[in-house]
Amino acid sequence: MRHVARAPMIAPSILSADFARLAEEAAAVPGADWLHVDVMDGHFVPNLTLGLPVVEALERATAIPLDCHLMINDPDRWAPGYAEAGSRNVTVHAEAAHDPRKVSRDIRAAGALAGLSIKPGTPLEDWIEVLRDYDTLLVMSVEPGFGGQKFMPEVLDKVRTARRLVDTGHLNVLVEIDGGISRDTVEQAAEAGVDCFVAGSAVYGADDPEQALEALRGQAARASAHLAGG
Ligand code: DX5
Ligand code: ZN
Repeated sequence: MRHVARAPMIAPSILSADFARLAEEAAAVPGADWLHVDVMDGHFVPNLTLGLPVVEALERATAIPLDCHLMINDPDRWAPGYAEAGSRNVTVHAEAAHDPRKVSRDIRAAGALAGLSIKPGTPLEDWIEVLRDYDTLLVMSVEPGFGGQKFMPEVLDKVRTARRLVDTGHLNVLVEIDGGISRDTVEQAAEAGVDCFVAGSAVYGADDPEQALEALRGQAARASAHLAGG
């Protein structure tokens, strides 16, 4: 049983947007709770995207809170800068952080929420103690690196466990999911207990990104209401 019924959050991922028109692409999703920004360094993941100068520029160009997902090596060194730039939430990968507790302290000290992400193959159990120092848990439902991949339903067991730990007061994190979220998968993720849904291709690949976002939110809300009621 869930103790708190919150409206589902939707975080469109600009990885699927037009990088030459980021300000306009942000303006195309006024209903977004957060704007998800995938920072990839070509080392922690094979792909390379954007870094701090672009995040600083985006921060000036939109009022939507930025949710920076750092798929980079040595986030200990780089994560606080993204918080200083004004991001609402800065997520580092558990697999990449040298001292995850210190990273969390540094992110929070710079004024952002601190997020910890785990790849599909990384067990949640190994990180529960560390998560006591975090505000957000980002469960990857694809291998990080690229948009438009197929959703991996097997990660929902981790979502269910995290949901239970939060609802029983053992953890205090927002549960976020990232990868392959679409109208075909959002309901099962909502039923498992996700609070915040990242969606790249399902939002920016649509003719009307704002309408696609609100449709996902509606589906998620109905699925989680069903859960609370049952
Ligand atoms: C993948 C990124 C995701 C990506 C999701 O490594 O972390 O945020 O943008 O894209 P979709 O929603 O298309 O799977
Ligand atoms: Zn992401």
